[in-house]
Amino acid sequence: MNTSLSKVALITGGAGLGIGHGISEALAAAGWNLVITDRNPERGAALAHRLSKDGVKVEVVTVDITAPEAPTQAVEAALKCFGRLDGLVNNVGVGLVKKAGEVTDEEFQTLFNVDFLAAFRFVRAALPALINAQGAIVNIGSVHARLAAPQYALYAATKSALDAFTRGLAVDYGAQGIRANIVHPGLVASPQNGPLLTKLGVDPETWIKEFTSTKQCLPDLVTAREVGELVAFLLSKNARSITGQSIYIDGGTTTLLWNRTEKL
Ligand SMILES: NC(=O)c1ccc[n+]([C@@H]2O[C@H](COP(=O)([O-])OP(=O)(O)OC[C@H]3O[C@@H](n4cnc5c(N)ncnc54)[C@H](O)[C@@H]3O)[C@@H](O)[C@H]2O)c1
Repeated sequence: MNTSLSKVALITGGAGLGIGHGISEALAAAGWNLVITDRNPERGAALAHRLSKDGVKVEVVTVDITAPEAPTQAVEAALKCFGRLDGLVNNVGVGLVKKAGEVTDEEFQTLFNVDFLAAFRFVRAALPALINAQGAIVNIGSVHARLAAPQYALYAATKSALDAFTRGLAVDYGAQGIRANIVHPGLVASPQNGPLLTKLGVDPETWIKEFTSTKQCLPDLVTAREVGELVAFLLSKNARSITGQSIYIDGGTTTLLWNRTEKL
């Protein structure tokens, strides 16, 4: 067992191509040891290989996070490999783009199992170790938690649930030294955007240009690494007085009342 004094963070979906990757990179750069859960073993192994340098150690736990035993497995891996757990980042989340009237019970259940139930279970499993280490939790929400968009009612509901859950955690566990915050990204630049937008029948470059010029105050998309740097800050002792907060990193999307190019 490695009982190194370096802090240890558990990141769900930490080997993802998008935000998960940005969070893993930022925390590794800040010297954290990592436990990453992902259901894709090859991607997990590749990320571990890339980030394991300069004294940083990365343990990959290959699980489907919706399995009831997955959270305990991941927390036990952290304690076995590193002897401690200082940070939990609930990053995994899946989307659902459909009007509420067309959503089946099965789709509803899958969405809430991944986006909310799993996050709750990871928190429950990690709390004893986090209290022991006086650690912190960061959940990953979305701008959809605050603003409505066509066909996003159910996805938005999962992120709003996570938002309220985060505040509740801050209230219930603050006295035991635990901080809990939620980061709400806007549209994040990711290699996944191109194929996804093409599948939806739009030209990715044109669509993104239109999005940033009308739906953001700032001209560039948020990067996954920027989200990661914010998460790293919130997990650090520099954020020791910040808890129960919903923090938007969205280039100003949630600041706009209407399209930036509209005159009136
Ligand atoms: N990408 C965006 O623009 C954006 C914007 C706002 C919010 N978000 C939120 O950010 C988070 C990360 O999104 P992302 O699109 O960047 O993804 P990501 O690239 O971080 O990848 C997520 C990872 O989770 C893994 N995963 C998915 N379901 C799993 C399961 N059941 N069990 C185990 N692993 C699983 C995938 O294999 C993938 O590697 C999500 O919560 C999402 O809702 C994303």
